[in-house]
Amino acid sequence: MKRDEEKLGPYFANPPEDVALADVDLDRLPSHISVIMDGNGRWATRQGLERGEGHVAGIKSLRETITACVRLGIEALSCYAFSTENWKRPQHEVDLLMHLFATTLVRELPLFHQENVRLRFLGDLSRLPEQTREVFEQGLSETADHTGMTLALAVNYGARAEIARAARLLAERVSAGELDVDAIDEVSVAGELYTAGLPDPELLIRTSGELRLSNFLLWQLAYSEFYVTDVLWPDFDRWELLRAIRSFQGRDRRFGGVSVK
Ligand code: FPP
Repeated sequence: MKRDEEKLGPYFANPPEDVALADVDLDRLPSHISVIMDGNGRWATRQGLERGEGHVAGIKSLRETITACVRLGIEALSCYAFSTENWKRPQHEVDLLMHLFATTLVRELPLFHQENVRLRFLGDLSRLPEQTREVFEQGLSETADHTGMTLALAVNYGARAEIARAARLLAERVSAGELDVDAIDEVSVAGELYTAGLPDPELLIRTSGELRLSNFLLWQLAYSEFYVTDVLWPDFDRWELLRAIRSFQGRDRRFGGVSVK
């Protein structure tokens, strides 16, 4: 992905003591970064605020992460915004999140236009409130021609449901006589996932210190490097992103083979 070198330096000006743009190799960036944005509720509670305030604060981190990834020339960024399990939260929190998704998307559309970001959703949008779904569809159609970074927002997403759906879609093609059972392989399964056409994430970032996948991209994360930080999502910023990429670049990725060094 093409990088705008003129904007990159200024965006990462005034770094903290422990990390700077010079610490990462711009020629070895992960093509796809995935993020489990966790800790909004705890952040709010620690500040004596309602949980919803944490989600509102989390929007700023999302915007900064999107901008930083665009500046770096990352090909795809996927963010876990709402899982199939999150419907179990109190109704008022679910309502607030759905409202926040819609208003955020409308507000950020100019950013997506300015930065040439192409939007995509991972998950079953049919269960979302109509207003949220309409705004999402507007975002999809308005950014469909964009050729820059793909931003994939996982909303009402669950990896097991995604894999079951892919199996169903393949089975339908088999029973329609379009596909031979023996032709089902990793490529055909991947082609029926919500992420079809995207590279697998090379780096998964999870905030707030939890060491689990929470049903996120189980298939696609098979060989990803994990970076878990104690930073809560509303405190996540461009510098923490650089720390994650620096850590990623320090790993020896063998994909089940042996090191070639
Ligand atoms: C996890 O924190 C965060 C979420 C469930 C929501 C994240 C959503 C956003 C930041 C807004 C995204 C905007 C768009 C347009 C998709 P938590 O509530 O699980 O925190 P806790 O573990 O501390 O309770």
